[in-house]
Amino acid sequence: MASLTVRQIDDKLKTLLRLRAAKSGRSMEDEIRTILRAAAEETGNAALDLIEPPNPPVHPPSSVTQKPAAAAESPKILLIITGGIAAYKSLDLIRRLRERGASVRVVMTKAAQEFVTPLAAAALADGGVFTELFDRHSEFDVGHIRLAREADIVVVAPCTADFLARVAHGLADDLASSIMLAASCPVLLAPAMNPHMWRHPATQRNIARVSADNVHLVGPNTGEMAERGEAGTGRMAEPNEIAQAAISILKPARTAAASIPQALSNKSVLITAGPTHEPIDPVRYIANRSSGKQGYAIARAAADAGAEVTLVSGPVNLPEPPGVKIIRVESAREMLAAVEKALPADVAIFAAAVADWRVAHAGTQKIKKGAAAMPPLELTENPDILSTIAHRTEGRPKLVIGFAAETENVIANAKSKLARKGCDWILANDVSTETGVMGGDRNTIHLVTAQGVTDWPEQSKEDVAQMLITAVAKEIA
Ligand SMILES: Cc1cc2nc3c(=O)[nH]c(=O)nc-3n(C[C@H](O)[C@H](O)[C@H](O)COP(=O)(O)O)c2cc1C
Repeated sequence: MASLTVRQIDDKLKTLLRLRAAKSGRSMEDEIRTILRAAAEETGNAALDLIEPPNPPVHPPSSVTQKPAAAAESPKILLIITGGIAAYKSLDLIRRLRERGASVRVVMTKAAQEFVTPLAAAALADGGVFTELFDRHSEFDVGHIRLAREADIVVVAPCTADFLARVAHGLADDLASSIMLAASCPVLLAPAMNPHMWRHPATQRNIARVSADNVHLVGPNTGEMAERGEAGTGRMAEPNEIAQAAISILKPARTAAASIPQALSNKSVLITAGPTHEPIDPVRYIANRSSGKQGYAIARAAADAGAEVTLVSGPVNLPEPPGVKIIRVESAREMLAAVEKALPADVAIFAAAVADWRVAHAGTQKIKKGAAAMPPLELTENPDILSTIAHRTEGRPKLVIGFAAETENVIANAKSKLARKGCDWILANDVSTETGVMGGDRNTIHLVTAQGVTDWPEQSKEDVAQMLITAVAKEIA
C-alpha cells in the first residue's frame, strides 16, 4: 500500500486521530493502519494480510516524551546536531551521554541531516528526534518551547560556524536556533570547523559573544581534520570529553542523590598532566610531545566521581575541566613545588611527562647566533616528582600512581620503575611513534602493581580515565 488519504472525516474525529497519532509517535496514516490491524487481529480477519504493518514511530509516544525512559532524576539532555562533518561522532556522543545515566532528546538542523539520518539518531536516543519547527505533529505534541524548558542542559555538537553565528546573534529561524533562544538551562557548545573558519575574526567575535552570555564551550581540539591534509585547531572535542563536560556542568546544580556515581566524594585527588618546558634562555626551551589529554581526562573523571581535584598542569592547549582546581606551571621544578604545596591528598596520580633533564645554566638573555661554535647545552637532572612523593615518610598519599611512557620493553621497564620509585601502581603505555599515543586520543594501558600486570584494552583516553578512577575508588574504599 503506497499511501493512504483520509477524507470526509469530521474535524473532531481528525483531532482525535491526530492526538492518538501524536501520543503513540506515529503518522496519522500509520495510526489508522495500527487501528485496522488491531481490529483485524482481534476478529481473526483475513483482511490482516491486506494491511501494511505501520512504520516504527518517528518520535517517541508522548507519554514517553513526558516521562523519559531513564529514571526521573536522570539528567535530561537536549542534543542539537548541526551540519558539520563531525556529526557522525554525535551518534557516539548519544551513547556516551546515556552511559552516564542521561536521557537524551535530539534536535537536528536541516544541514545535519545531510551527514547523519534522524533514524540513526532515533535508534540511539531515548527521548526522540525532532527536526522541524513548522511540523504540526511534533509542535503540537512537544513544541520548541517545551523542548527548551524540559532540558537540564542543551548540548550542541558539532556546533558549526554558522550555528555559532546564529546563537551569537540571537536568530531563531529554525527549530534548533529557536530552542537556543528559549532555553534558560545551561548551554554547552562543541565547535567543530576547519581551522581557517575557527581562526576567522568573525568566528572569534562570536565565541567571545556567546562566552559573555555564559555559554559553556568544550574544544575545539587541535589535531588532524577530516579534510585531507588539514590540521590545526577546529576538531570537535571527543564524545567522551563532551559527555563529561555536560555532566560536570550539571553536577553542581544537582543533588548528590543524582544518578551520577560519586564514588570519590570526600576524597582529594592530586593529578599532574602535560609536558614541562625547561628553559634554554628566555625564548627557547626543551619540551616533549605530551598533550596533557590523559591527565586532563583523569582529572575530569575524578571530579565527576565527586573528588576534590587539584590538577597541576604543564603548558597544554586544552579546555579546563569543570570543577577542577588548576595550577599552571612550566618547569619540572615548578611542578614539584606546586605538587608539594597541594598536599595532603588521598590519591596522587602523576600523568605529566616531566623532563628528566634541564639545561644546567639557562641563559638570562637570548643566546645569539654568531660565528663562534654552537653553544654547548650542559644538562643536569631534574627532581623526580613521582619518587619524591612516593618516598615521603610524612603526608604520603594513600595511593601513589605513576605513568611509564616507554618505547621498548614496556612491561619490564614498568616493573622496575614501580620498585625504583616506591609508588603503588604504574600505568605503563607504549609511546613509540607508530602507536600515536603521544598527542593522540587513544591509549593502551598495562596496569603494573605489586600483585602483577593487568592488560587493559586499547580505548579512548577518557575510557582509560574512567577505568582508572573506578579502580582507584575500589582500592581506597
Ligand atoms: C562536506 C561538508 C562539510 C562541512 N563541515 C562543516 C564543519 O565541520 N563545520 C562547519 O562549521 N561547517 C561545515 N560545513 C558547512 C555547513 O554545513 C553549513 O554552514 C550549513 O549551513 C550549516 O548549517 P547548520 O548550522 O544549520 O547546521 C560543511 C559543509 C559541507 C558540504
